[in-house]
Parts: sequence; structure tokens; C-alpha cells
Amino acid sequence: MHRREFLVFSSVASLLFVTGCGGSSSRSSANPTVKTSALPIPGLLKPITKNGVQHYDMDIKEAKHAFFEGKLTDTFAINDSTYLGPTLLLQQGDRVSINYKNNLKETITMHGHGMHVPPTMDGTAHQAIAPSQAWSPQYTVNQKACTNWYHPHTMEKTAEQVYQGLAGLIIVEDDESRALDLPKRYGVDDIPLVLQDRFFTDGQIDYSPTMREIMRGYVGDTFIANGAIEPTLDVEAKEIRFRILNGSNSSIYELGFSDGRAFKQIATDNGFLEQAVEITRLRLSPAERAEIVIDLSSDKNKSLSFNDYKQNKTFLNISVNKDATQITRLPNKLTTLETINPMAAVRTRPFVFTGSRGNFQINGKSMDMKRIDERVVLGETEIWEVKNNMMMDHNFHIHATNFRLIERNGNAANVAENEKGYKDVVFVPANESVKLLIKMVDYTNATVPYMYHCHFLEHEDRGMMGQFVVV
Ligand code: C2O
Ligand code: CU
Ligand code: CU
Repeated sequence: MHRREFLVFSSVASLLFVTGCGGSSSRSSANPTVKTSALPIPGLLKPITKNGVQHYDMDIKEAKHAFFEGKLTDTFAINDSTYLGPTLLLQQGDRVSINYKNNLKETITMHGHGMHVPPTMDGTAHQAIAPSQAWSPQYTVNQKACTNWYHPHTMEKTAEQVYQGLAGLIIVEDDESRALDLPKRYGVDDIPLVLQDRFFTDGQIDYSPTMREIMRGYVGDTFIANGAIEPTLDVEAKEIRFRILNGSNSSIYELGFSDGRAFKQIATDNGFLEQAVEITRLRLSPAERAEIVIDLSSDKNKSLSFNDYKQNKTFLNISVNKDATQITRLPNKLTTLETINPMAAVRTRPFVFTGSRGNFQINGKSMDMKRIDERVVLGETEIWEVKNNMMMDHNFHIHATNFRLIERNGNAANVAENEKGYKDVVFVPANESVKLLIKMVDYTNATVPYMYHCHFLEHEDRGMMGQFVVV
């Protein structure tokens, strides 16, 4: 019945055991049969409140996860999950303490990507957590509603640790988001969606990028959503919201639905768009987030799939098989964004990408934890001009704040409507450039830096990162 429509891309990856292009030699062995499953919804972690502070306990450990039938895959996970971690649901104004306990045999760090926190609470390589140690960043949530995430940020090991399964969502809500008539029932009509791809060999996660894959991207042949291979989601015939994270190491996804329908993007990385933007394809580079709303109210008993049209792979099958138990109507206006005024910038800071043979630089320098590359003055508006002088794609992420994309290739008219919101990652294709308007507003610390970097994890781990302090 509805299965038919899924078959366009369905299970092709899992049946073919392809390594194909990409020049990998050792990844041709067969994997077990894919386990069919419903889309896993990461649990919402319940805090323990002590003296007005909400404590979230995160036990990071080795686990075994069922991607396949009859074979468990070794992973890293958190608490009772076996791949990825629970979702943290925070409210603006909350005082939180996130207690990471490292039960692994290797050093890790845990970074709150998109969180506006002091550098000592940021979870970069400067806040390493050795095996059997704990680290508890504490802060007050001081930003608008958005979908963020946490992941390791360990020097030269981020890519591998994320690949093993360490990542999860941090949802921030505020008065505005709570008041909007949006789908808000977590796991029912407000669906978290962590998109990744992996190579598996004999049912085990295979992190073994070749030099070419380090340069061009380690794009796996098996696409997973919330840690399941091509799962199915049963939904009500109503508006459904997806909070989508590109949680891959280095894949650019071109996302859309199998029937080609239009949907609305309502949020970028760090907050709502002013108004929903109608699109049929959503491009997301690594670490970018988008919230979308798709209207399925007249699709009862239909099925469709959510696919990546770059690799032609299915991430998720959607079956509209329940009646709506609540109606939502997407509002015309979602929020008010700060007006963009490039004239307010007091300087332009250049960031130039170069690299070859598995080594990458920003402004001619590879990452050095002992070097502060940039000093930024609190409250000063700046333009950061990022130039990709390479024949391959990159992106650019800045910690602890958001920015506005004001130009692509020297022209404001090249900025798409759905990139006009608050961003913290921007895609910078081969031989292109972007200009960002940025202002650090929250915390100063003359010695402990934040990071900026390419979020293709193979690049970040090989030098494509720098450090800045806010003074
Ligand atoms: Cu998503 Cu420097 O991190
Ligand atoms: Cu970050
Ligand atoms: Cu890169």
C-alpha cells in the first residue's frame, strides 16, 4: 500500500553495499539486514532542581546500538540511549548546570553549539574532560528560542567522536515561541530530526577517511535519522514541524519531500525567521539547523518520504495515518529580527581558507591552542569576510553568538530569503566568499578563547580553526 511510494530511494543503499565512488578500498564488506524501525525520538532529559538551578546529568559511555538485525553496533552514547543523547529542553532565563561525566576510555569535551555562554562554559578543547572525570558548565540561558545541539570538540578527535554517536539537541524556548500557534508537541507534531550518514563495515561504524575523503568530505553510504536507517514516522493529518540538524561530519544535504511539495522554513540556526519562507528544497551544510513546517492536513492515508536529493537517499518515511487531535495555523509573523545595518561596522576582519594534502589553514595558520588569533571588543559591530580560496566546499561557524549573512560573493542580492535569519554556521562553496555582520554582546574574558572554524569535521580536526577572545 503506502510502501510503493517509498520505493523511489528505499533501501537501495542498504541492499547494494556500495562503496563505489570515493576511492575507498576496505569498505566493501556486506552489512547485516537493516533493522526496520519507527523514527526514534530522543528522550527529553528531566532536570533535578536544586537551589533554583536545573541540573542535567549526562553520563557519557560506550554502548551498543541496533542499526541492523541480529547484530549490535559499538557506539558512544549518553545515559540510557544507545546512540546520540537525550534532548535538553531549556527556557530562556533558566539557570542550568549540565553535568557531563566521561565514562569513556578517551578524553572528550562537550560543546553547546549555538549557546551564548561564557568561554569557560563553552566546552572547547580548553575544557577537556579526562576519562572518569566530570565537567559541569553552569550558565543562565540568555537567548531567544532556537534549536541548538551539543557535541564533542576534542582537539583532532571531534570527527571520530561525533561519528561514534556523541551528539544531541538543545532546544531553547522563550515567551515568544511559547505564544506562537506552532506545532509544539514534542515527538507528536514537533519532531526532532538529526540527520547523518555513516559507513558501516560488518555492522560496525567505520571511521576511516581516505585523503580524498578528508579533502572532499567523508560522506557515508548509509543515511540515518535519529540513529535509525530509513525509519518510519506515523503522524497526524495536520501541520508538522521538524527541527532539522545536519549532524553529519561533512555532507551537504539538499532536502525535500518525495512528492516535491513546498514547505515552510520558520527558523534558521539561532532563531525564528521574521516570516516563514516557502521552499521545496532545503540546503543544509554540517551543523546548520532549520525548523520547517509541512502541512499534511489534507493527506490522511498518504505516505511520503523525506530525502536528500544530493545523494538521492531517503532519510525518513512519513505515514499520515492519524486524525489531527489538535489544529495549529502557522502565523504570518514569527518574530522581529534586528535590522541589518552594515554601516555600523567599525572594521572588516578577513578569514581566508587555504589547504592541501589534508592540512587546512585560516589566514595561513593551522589551529594552535596556545595562540589567540583575534581580539574582538565587546559591543563593537564588525564585518567578518570569509573567503574560500579552495576548489572544495567549506563552511564557517562562530561560537557564542549569532551573525547575519549580508553578502554572498560581494552582493547582498545573493543572500537567499531563508538565510536572512540569525545564523551561526554559513555555507561557503568552493571559490566563493561571504560577509557576516557580527557583534559580541555577552561575555568578556581576555585569556580563555572561543573558536571559529570550518564545521566539516575532517577539516576542523586538521587545522581549519582559530581562536578569538572578547575583551
Ligand atoms: Cu559545533 Cu566549534 O562547534
Ligand atoms: Cu559551536
Ligand atoms: Cu572545510
